[in-house]
Amino acid sequence: MDDLQTRFDETIAADQRIEPRDWMPEAYRKTLVRQIAQHAHSEIIGMQPEGNWLLRAPSLRRKAILLAKVQDEAGHGMYLYSAAETLGVDRADLTEMLIEGRQRYSSIFNYPTLSYADIGVIGWLVDGAAICNQVPLCRCSYGPYARAMIRICKEESFHQRQGYELLLAMMRGTDAQRAMVQESVDRWWWPSLMMFGPPDGDSPNTQQSMAWNIKRHTNDELRQRFVDMTVPQAEALGVTLPDPEIRWNEERQAHDYGEVDWTEFKAVLAGAGPCNAQRIAHRRRAHENGAWVREAATAYAEKQSRKVAA
Ligand code: 3HC
Repeated sequence: MDDLQTRFDETIAADQRIEPRDWMPEAYRKTLVRQIAQHAHSEIIGMQPEGNWLLRAPSLRRKAILLAKVQDEAGHGMYLYSAAETLGVDRADLTEMLIEGRQRYSSIFNYPTLSYADIGVIGWLVDGAAICNQVPLCRCSYGPYARAMIRICKEESFHQRQGYELLLAMMRGTDAQRAMVQESVDRWWWPSLMMFGPPDGDSPNTQQSMAWNIKRHTNDELRQRFVDMTVPQAEALGVTLPDPEIRWNEERQAHDYGEVDWTEFKAVLAGAGPCNAQRIAHRRRAHENGAWVREAATAYAEKQSRKVAA
């Protein structure tokens, strides 16, 4: 055991990758299953708020873009469930734990998409926040997770750009369209900051995840990076971020910003967000309705393997 632990520690200290066949501490494996499962569940649940506007997109072009994005999110979920399965868990079990409330998904997807402008704001802010959080994960010490992130980040960049382009078009439209964008930004700004997790002082996982090179930055560092990236984009778009305390701090060379409502964050994590029950009920229904597909695929695979064995 000591040799194995020593080799693991040396690999992490040398900033090298841990691969599925390598020995790893059970706690390292468990926290990766926890985080990758949350990430995968978030991608799948995240299809719901945007899917809500597929039939109401204002043009064939906008519908095709949104369809491509929602399909991408499904694919991200598949990559991430595959990465989790290299740690010895099964995606069926992870889905069951999600549906039973024993695993998490990102708080951001418990908010409703009330107007079409939300589709642009989600692309700009939510996928923008996801990019801030996910690019460092491309250097995660666990190989399969890091490699899944590389492809996912490329597609997230498209997601963010299409959202921003949609908002630019609306901001060049009518007063009503501009008002719709601003109202959407007002609703999504603070929940987007919550995506980065609780303040560093309240994060039970960050210190160990940083020591293991799973996380490369703390929650607050990435949140700050997102604020600094987004402020000039909001100015270019012509919208106001709903935080009067945002201002450039020359000394810090970063933007100061107001306090996140951590009571709201904790309430949403506890299941009291606007859409928590709806999101899980939808996921349960989809899982039940898809049982026949899984059964058919399993029966076909078993038939094929019997053929090969014969
Ligand atoms: N939503 C739900 N749960 C959250 C959360 C959030 N926004 N932020 C933190 N939590 C949970 C954590 O899971 C942890 O609970 P647990 O121990 O029961 O799992 C607890 O709150 C304390 O948080 P920590 O900061 O200690 O936890 P982590 O070190 O895991 O950091 C995280 C939280 C930054 C979200 C990290 O888990 C992470 O980077 N996850 C992977 C990336 C991810 O999930 N991104 C967002 C969703 S994916 C997405 O946006 C899709 C895109 O296409 C739009």
